[in-house]
Amino acid sequence: NAVIASVKTALGWVPAQWLPGGTPDPLIGRSAAIGRQDNRLDGPAKVGGLARFSAEVPLQRLSYAALVYSSIVRGRITRLDTAAAEATPGVILVMTHRNMPRIGLVPLIGVTDLSAVGNSSLPILQDATIRYNGQVVAAVVAETQEQADHAASLIEIDYAAEPGKTRFEEAKTDARTPASILIEKNHVSVGNAERELAAAAHRVDNVYRTPGQNHNAIELHAVTVAWDGDSLVVHDTIQMVASSAKALAKLFGLKKDKVRVLSPFVGGGFGGKGLWDHQVVAVAAAKLAGRPLRLVLSREGVYRIVGGRSPSEQRVALGADADGRFTAIVHTGYSIMPPHGACPEQYSLCTRALYRSKSFEILQRHLDLDIVPNTYMRAPGEAIGTFAVECAVDELAHEMGIDPIELRRRNEPDRHPIHGSPFSQRALIQAYEQGAARFGWVRRQAEPGTLRDGEWRIGLGCASGSFPYARMPGANVRLTLRSDGSATIASSAQEMGMGTATVQVQHAADRLGLPVEAIGFELGDSALPAGPMAGGSSQTVSLAAAIMAASEKLTAELLRLAGNDSPLAGLRAGDVRLLDGGIGAIEDPSRHESYRSILARAARDEIVVDAAGSAPLEMLKFAMHSSSAIFCEVRVSDVTGEIRVERMLGSFDCGTILNPKTAASQFRGGMIMGLGLALTEETLFDERSGRIMNATLADYHIPVHLDVPEIEVMWTGIADPRSPLGARGIGEIGITGVGAAIANAVFNATGKRVRELPITLDKLL
Ligand code: MOS
Repeated sequence: NAVIASVKTALGWVPAQWLPGGTPDPLIGRSAAIGRQDNRLDGPAKVGGLARFSAEVPLQRLSYAALVYSSIVRGRITRLDTAAAEATPGVILVMTHRNMPRIGLVPLIGVTDLSAVGNSSLPILQDATIRYNGQVVAAVVAETQEQADHAASLIEIDYAAEPGKTRFEEAKTDARTPASILIEKNHVSVGNAERELAAAAHRVDNVYRTPGQNHNAIELHAVTVAWDGDSLVVHDTIQMVASSAKALAKLFGLKKDKVRVLSPFVGGGFGGKGLWDHQVVAVAAAKLAGRPLRLVLSREGVYRIVGGRSPSEQRVALGADADGRFTAIVHTGYSIMPPHGACPEQYSLCTRALYRSKSFEILQRHLDLDIVPNTYMRAPGEAIGTFAVECAVDELAHEMGIDPIELRRRNEPDRHPIHGSPFSQRALIQAYEQGAARFGWVRRQAEPGTLRDGEWRIGLGCASGSFPYARMPGANVRLTLRSDGSATIASSAQEMGMGTATVQVQHAADRLGLPVEAIGFELGDSALPAGPMAGGSSQTVSLAAAIMAASEKLTAELLRLAGNDSPLAGLRAGDVRLLDGGIGAIEDPSRHESYRSILARAARDEIVVDAAGSAPLEMLKFAMHSSSAIFCEVRVSDVTGEIRVERMLGSFDCGTILNPKTAASQFRGGMIMGLGLALTEETLFDERSGRIMNATLADYHIPVHLDVPEIEVMWTGIADPRSPLGARGIGEIGITGVGAAIANAVFNATGKRVRELPITLDKLL
């Protein structure tokens, strides 16, 4: 995706330090705490109600804000009457484009500036122009939330409407294919795929459609803001603490150290918890009000001003020779990415890495619509791209009378099919074999509609998932080792519920040779060393590399302090390793000195080292992908068309699994989100008005417990020799492939091929 591409762009100026020859992390294969299913360190605070989320921070003289959103798609405000709102009891002020402080544009995340953070570069309350339906046009600040909400309803606005671009189909004529992506270009041709396709012994060629989807983290977007002179404190729920603080400082003309963003807990992110208009509005309104301020978006508000997954239309064509070997892969399509947005929805990314083929034609075209920009949503691109390509593979297998797993086996690549770079590690076929055995794939009947249970037809399906590895450059940590043998690691990293602190404490325990109980982890605060963002399934290895670098610095410092009176005297960094609460010679276990002893002799209370992860060169040298084999069993009612997912199994190949408990939760959570993608989720966008019509959790359907079946997860656990800890991302791979696995199971049950998500019962009758 764009994040990865921008990392690769950035590598041009990052000095090479680490993995010059691809030396594996020495911790691989000798870990103790890593791989153990430790409980989440943040668990007790969360279940005990002690975890304080951004909308819960108590502040003196707190004020509350409510937003008003435009009801037209394009045009101009001709009348804006705030008098009634201002006269309402409790109202402190109304902020509109007339009195909002003049600020610049938010820099868009990704491609040109890695530390940029914005999702939309449209002006925020700067003028009377309306640029999409749902745009913020006013903010009311009041003594209570209820007073703010009521006053917001009293604001009267007239618009001079102009025609807007809201129709997907019409926008196709002006579709663009930006050349911005350095390595993963938007247009790739290998050989002549159309000619190969025409000449192929077997082929499928179809169009797949996926709808827009909206973010529905259970914790709403919320911010509590306090100014103190020219210092700003922002309690936010955000996936990118460090870069958000930087962006807010720049927007409001403050020195970097005058802005502090705190985000110790994020109640679900999935890509949607970035910097959007509401934080900027809240900061500006708090300034005008001269009061601390809280702004919690309503559920509707999240739909209005936080983008979601773009709808897509994708053509996938596969050509194969008589043995089923691919001769052509065509994956082209359209998705939305307005110039004021940042998310390219790379649905063709997995297709490039999954199969060997004689030829490829890959083309992504972006549509410009007047909408809140689409954004990153768990496996942006990959989740919907695998729906298309993995259905196509299933269709071809059916056409050829080959088992779909066998067809995949025949087309398994031995290096990256397009770049030619070697895979760092890849055991997708092993994941299939383990998964198929466990799932009972043999029960599947090749002929659709064969398995029945009364009115229910039963079908089994599978699909591959793939997600690129990413490690962010410039992830920083501070490591403090104390004379009592305890250590703390600090970084402005994010805890969105995946167990960030937990696995890094496990990691640090092994890296430093300390028990997990001796290690603390501080995160979620921009006052700490700038950590990586939580995105692109990259935070874990990004932090791991930084901790690795810190431990190397610590080793050097300890050896220096140990001096000539230590059993370590004369040893160099390469001769020792951190273990058993101190440093020991690798060759001679009798030469060991504890941290306590070294610090006591040196009369030091603590050692503090700051370190940054090395340049992620491994990403340039190797094709690195997490992979999965997803299995699904559905039953479909003959009478109503109702689809029930009976069970799912995910078999993952994602490198070292650092904590089986947190990993299983990540995988399951992703698969549940995939279930929603396949069967229920759909943003109903009225193309006449440019308005989202189902902006509530009652109308936008995400799976509830009764929809979620038994989900089993398993993994190969094979370490990736090219990554820190041998680990790769596990956050986004979970959803990837699930849509197709369910669609393929529905086909196997019914013989009906639904190429348009969500697969609702009306499409089966
Ligand atoms: Mo994710 S869509 O990188 O939070």
